[in-house]
Amino acid sequence: MRFPETFIQEVVDRTDIEELVSRYVTLKRSGSNLVACCPFHSEKTPSFNVNPTKKMFFCFGCHAGGTVITFVQKAENLDFVDAVEFLANRAGLPLPRESEATKETGIPRRRILDANLEAAKFFRACLFDENLGKEARAYLAGTRALSEATIKHFGLGFAPNSFHLLVDHMKEKGFREDELVAACLAGQKNGRTYDYFRNRVIFPIIDPAGQVVAFGGRVMDDSKPKYLNSSDTPVFKKSRQLFALNFAKNMSAERMILCEGYLDVIALHQAGFEFAVATLGTAITPEHARIFTKYTKRVIISYDADEAGQKAAEKAMRILGDVGMEVRVLKVSGAKDPDEFIRKYGADRFGRILDESKTGFDHKADRILSAYDLTVGVEQIRATNEICSLIADYNSPVEREVYISDASKRLGLSTDALKGLVTQFRKKRAKERAAEETREAQATLKNFRDPINPDAARHFQAAAAERAVLGLLLRYPEYRTIVEKGEIGLAEESFLTEFHKRVFSALMELHKSEYGFRFEFLDERFTPEEVGRIRQMEVEREQLTNNGIDVFRSAVEALNNIREKEESAGEDLSASIERLRKKSRKTT
Ligand code: CTP
Ligand code: MN
Repeated sequence: MRFPETFIQEVVDRTDIEELVSRYVTLKRSGSNLVACCPFHSEKTPSFNVNPTKKMFFCFGCHAGGTVITFVQKAENLDFVDAVEFLANRAGLPLPRESEATKETGIPRRRILDANLEAAKFFRACLFDENLGKEARAYLAGTRALSEATIKHFGLGFAPNSFHLLVDHMKEKGFREDELVAACLAGQKNGRTYDYFRNRVIFPIIDPAGQVVAFGGRVMDDSKPKYLNSSDTPVFKKSRQLFALNFAKNMSAERMILCEGYLDVIALHQAGFEFAVATLGTAITPEHARIFTKYTKRVIISYDADEAGQKAAEKAMRILGDVGMEVRVLKVSGAKDPDEFIRKYGADRFGRILDESKTGFDHKADRILSAYDLTVGVEQIRATNEICSLIADYNSPVEREVYISDASKRLGLSTDALKGLVTQFRKKRAKERAAEETREAQATLKNFRDPINPDAARHFQAAAAERAVLGLLLRYPEYRTIVEKGEIGLAEESFLTEFHKRVFSALMELHKSEYGFRFEFLDERFTPEEVGRIRQMEVEREQLTNNGIDVFRSAVEALNNIREKEESAGEDLSASIERLRKKSRKTT
């Protein structure tokens, strides 16, 4: 399936790269460029650059780069076709006819979304069916204390205890078995297609656009597994979805609550805390963390009270802190999780502990202090060490100052003593980090491998020359014309490494085509990682001041020399003797 070039152009032309990227990171102006902390790797100082005139981006840290299409491919984890569709939808451009298909399954995303919506309706009908849904209604309304309004608000449902009711229903509605399998609504075994969710209450997962993208299903007793969830499908990636974000996103400007379970979130919303969300049974990922930055200033982590929950909370703190989020921690006491807390003590009391939720530092300091008896000298020293080591982790001097003064009160020690200790820890850590970085750099140098262009390891010099040539060709159309007219000795055969050869062919082919070369046409032919590399070659030239025709000529010449040298070194002895003989014949 292919989009016409004119359509791809239209999609790119109608997309404002600044507005697009701003949905993921905060852009700041820097000269004619815009910069931000890279959405594709963790960093604290911005190395992600957007060039609004060229509509291109490049990260000097992780070397991701390319067009708005590449950006969407990476940010939304979509393939080329889906990324173009995504941008077309945003721009309000109707899709050319047959382009709906996704590559992997051949089943259009739209079909999967339609199937999910139909299934959600079916599950809901089963829940409210007088007989079928009796037990499930009793579970949700009774055991879990959910009102009918809440049940309807979240679109909860029930998957009956049957292997075929859903499949039958969906087939009647015109869905094919392979479509149901692709949507993860059905499984297949020995040629039979069966309902994936059985005898479970159903929680539809709805994305911020309001589309049903997946389901979670919980048993109504203590049997295992407690939850069954949709696996990833063409419309669903677990690691970048938050439960109830569709509701929470509109109530979340000041703060959001992050819980562990669907039922925690539902109980919180019912109690009026409609800014609660949960991950889908997975630990929070950096992708999740970046989603939060789009919607809110502060995240209050409210995980289960048990040891596992608190460990997970500390990890979540770090991941959210890494993207610059303001983090607080709320640990319920007297209940195992927020859901049980609200059922036991009510919404008002939850509201109060929510307002008292602690900063990440306080939470961790509490944990440390409660583990030691401060009246015993050795224990006080240990506690002081741990707390100072914790403070040393904060890079902001203001934060360190505040925490030191706080800790001095709690430990009964002077701020000067603590300050000295914190400084020691920071120095030690800086040293360790420097050593670690050198080790890493050496390790990468030693087993130098380039997954994008594996040939580069064998043809090191040629690869470097090829990069220079390609960078110039990418940047300057006039050099492409020179090559096209055959005014310089450069052809596919000039390239020794496979990847660079492919780039050259694509570039020249596009240059000669009706539409000319546009970077976004490369998105169809290369992976986002490859596009990043191609963009890097162009950026490397952009950073040099002299890119005149003489530079181009000598780059091509250098490439040809290296190639000839490598080729002659690779010939076997007899061939090279033969070549020498010919040469001497010519000269005599
Ligand atoms: N989870 C899962 N698979 C399991 C257990 C849990 O996917 N076997 C996920 C679910 O998303 C669940 C979350 O992890 O909501 C938290 O788990 P847990 O606290 O055990 O579940 P709750 O939803 O809080 O359910 P309950 O209160 O009934 O124990
Ligand atoms: Mn729970």
